[in-house]
Amino acid sequence: MPKNSAFIDLITIALEPDSSVPLYQQLYETLREAILTGRLEAGLRLPPTRALAEELGVSRNTVVNAFEQLIAEGYIDSRVGAGSFVASDLPEEVLELRSKALDAAPSQRWDRSGILSQRGEIIASAPVRLGPSTPAAFQPGLPALDEFPFKIWEQLMDHHWRYLPPASFGYGAAVGYQPLREVIAAYLGAARGVRCEAEQIIMVAGTQQAINLAAYVLLDPGDKVWMEDPGYIDGRVALLGAGVTPVPIPVDAEGVSIDMGQQLCPDARLVYITPSYQYPLGIRMSLSRRLRLLEWANQANAWILEDDYDSEYRYAGRPLAALQGLDHAGRVIYIGTFSKVLFPALRMGYIVAPHDLVDAFTAALALVNRCLPILPQAVLTDFLAEGHFARHVRRMRTLYAERQALLVEMVQQELAGRLDIGPAEAGLHLLAHLIDYDDRLASTRLAENGIHAPSLASYAVRPQPHPGLVLGYAPSKNYKSAKALQPWRES
Ligand SMILES: Cc1ncc(COP(=O)(O)O)c(C=O)c1O
Repeated sequence: MPKNSAFIDLITIALEPDSSVPLYQQLYETLREAILTGRLEAGLRLPPTRALAEELGVSRNTVVNAFEQLIAEGYIDSRVGAGSFVASDLPEEVLELRSKALDAAPSQRWDRSGILSQRGEIIASAPVRLGPSTPAAFQPGLPALDEFPFKIWEQLMDHHWRYLPPASFGYGAAVGYQPLREVIAAYLGAARGVRCEAEQIIMVAGTQQAINLAAYVLLDPGDKVWMEDPGYIDGRVALLGAGVTPVPIPVDAEGVSIDMGQQLCPDARLVYITPSYQYPLGIRMSLSRRLRLLEWANQANAWILEDDYDSEYRYAGRPLAALQGLDHAGRVIYIGTFSKVLFPALRMGYIVAPHDLVDAFTAALALVNRCLPILPQAVLTDFLAEGHFARHVRRMRTLYAERQALLVEMVQQELAGRLDIGPAEAGLHLLAHLIDYDDRLASTRLAENGIHAPSLASYAVRPQPHPGLVLGYAPSKNYKSAKALQPWRES
């Protein structure tokens, strides 16, 4: 189907009844110009003459005359019973004109030096990393999209589309749909040990937006932030884009090292952490480290940004409640997302803000979003409240545990001595260590075969002791053979 056929009715045709140029001539010239410039594409079906005449408030003859002239000159074809179409075989003159226009078009991106604000320059130069836009094999951070209960989602969508009162389709509250905030507060209290009221829940378009908002609300350009090294790159880039300086702090067996943080950056304003399942090392921050971090934040008057991105998936070991639940001083800003537990394209996440910050976050959100779409929020509310969410999580826990075990077994059997892997208690990815092979090179080679397995080095600022690959195991299409993970095949 021609690309712009859906917009044919919106092509502006402004006729001037008082002009000395006859109306049919004006219409002819407008349509001819639209065909010449490509606004009306070859093959596009034009509106019936009667409908167009009515819309323009002219006689049908005016339109018929204009069309006839266009037909005579080869710009449009008329097929009996089917209507009039922009000719697929355009006259030579048209093609020449078009190719001249294309030649004249600037072939390079324009020079933007001096046109952006300083803030714009910082944002434009942030090293944004776009992963594959369609899921790739072993891509970390993806759930099993084909296991999502889309049928239930569809039924809830249908229901809300029919029964939400018209008033719901105006501008909603910037903080999010109130029933959703309430059910999320209840869920977080029960499942994650987060201590909060619905008023503290601020709905956002995923973790990415939450980190951005936190940076804009809490930090000034040039402020320093402790960032886990290795750590979540998209979080780091969001901070860079806000003009903040992320300072890489090593992670040890208990989580981010506070001693190193104090040594490398004593004046940090914020620490960004993934304490439940450190990304990408998969370490669970120990209780004593959590308590020390809270103490440090209190003394240093700093904020803790807790990214609890996939804690629903714990397969073994004691579940450890969120760090936020231990915070008595209002220092923790907790972020959750539905990207891993439902699906990333939902773009739905939340911030749990300390009471004192709720107004500032709400204002920031109203500035960037105005409000989030009502329909997915209403659907999500029921999905959570009616138990579909809990059922889905339970089912996925079993499935992912099996898939993780299978990946470990396959790698251990098929790639022993080359790729070292072990089971993990949580998460949706494993870190596999390469033996005597550079991880960046391995990742590039695998990408050539459609496998998206980022290197450990790509998450780190400092060199890492062992090269590694980060492997997502939740999507089913990964599981044929571990042999696909051999980058050394062609070497
Ligand atoms: C550490 C971490 N946080 C958050 C997310 C999810 O981000 P979002 O909610 O923007 O989809 C991911 C996804 O890969 C992640 O790895």
